[in-house]
Amino acid sequence: MAGRLDGKVAVITGGGGAMGGAQARLFASEGAAVCAADVNLEAAEKVAAEIEESSGRAIAAQLDVREAGQWQEVVAATEEAFGPVSVLCNNAGANFRVSFDEQTEEQWHTIMEIGLTGAFLGIKAIVPSMRKAGSGVILNMGSLAAIRPGGGSPAYAAQKMGMIGLTRSAAHSYARDNIRCVIVSPGHVDTPFIRGNNPHSPNDWSTSIDNPDNLNRRLDATPLGRLQTPEDIASAFLFAATDEAAMITGSMITVDGGAGM
Ligand SMILES: NC(=O)c1ccc[n+]([C@@H]2O[C@H](COP(=O)([O-])OP(=O)(O)OC[C@H]3O[C@@H](n4cnc5c(N)ncnc54)[C@H](O)[C@@H]3O)[C@@H](O)[C@H]2O)c1
Repeated sequence: MAGRLDGKVAVITGGGGAMGGAQARLFASEGAAVCAADVNLEAAEKVAAEIEESSGRAIAAQLDVREAGQWQEVVAATEEAFGPVSVLCNNAGANFRVSFDEQTEEQWHTIMEIGLTGAFLGIKAIVPSMRKAGSGVILNMGSLAAIRPGGGSPAYAAQKMGMIGLTRSAAHSYARDNIRCVIVSPGHVDTPFIRGNNPHSPNDWSTSIDNPDNLNRRLDATPLGRLQTPEDIASAFLFAATDEAAMITGSMITVDGGAGM
């Protein structure tokens, strides 16, 4: 049976993470060849190995999205393995859940550099490959913070709001190259980003959804009554990557169970 992404080549940042991993598995199951790129190489390798075990095509690559030189290596490795890149998913992100008063300059830079500068560098690195492919789709990871940032981590609000500007700028700049750019904004997704304690997204009992108070606050704020899964979000990424979305560019697709209403 024909896959919805047959012949496509996708680079997925945060490809070892929950949402990037779900995209990599879904895209590969729909016929795409995938490069799972992550600062955590071991996690990316695990995703690529799972895909290969299911007869899909995947490689893993070490990538700190803040490093332009590493982006060049990822593009070269992906082109060598599969040919020109036609889909880029910018998932890598960071957050430090502290108030405006408490957020340090270092935290600000980390959030902005991983989330926003990383996506900017990725677009610059991959557009020449998309031109070779003849078309492309750039998919940026948004958030409720791109809709209704509220209080808390100011850099996260600025990063995700900034992602809307970056999306529209890329959509405008590259439309004539037959390259689309879309931002997908999840609500609350049950992943290590809001449950675990990782260097790019630390949580403790006061912030983690392991704490029922934090979980229930999010559930109460979600009219459809459950957290999203990484697969819910990957479905929207898949749709946006296919020609079914051929006339969608510069737009935001919200997948939040109604939380942003
Ligand atoms: N989980 C949520 O509720 C939620 C909601 C909205 C948006 N988001 C966004 O989704 C994205 C992915 O989050 P997730 O929930 O899958 O979390 P995750 O922690 O499972 O995945 C994040 C991945 O990014 C990788 N990463 C971190 N820094 C990196 C860097 N410098 N270079 C390359 N890779 C790096 C991590 O190693 C990890 O594999 C983030 O941009 C986050 O802001 C999350």
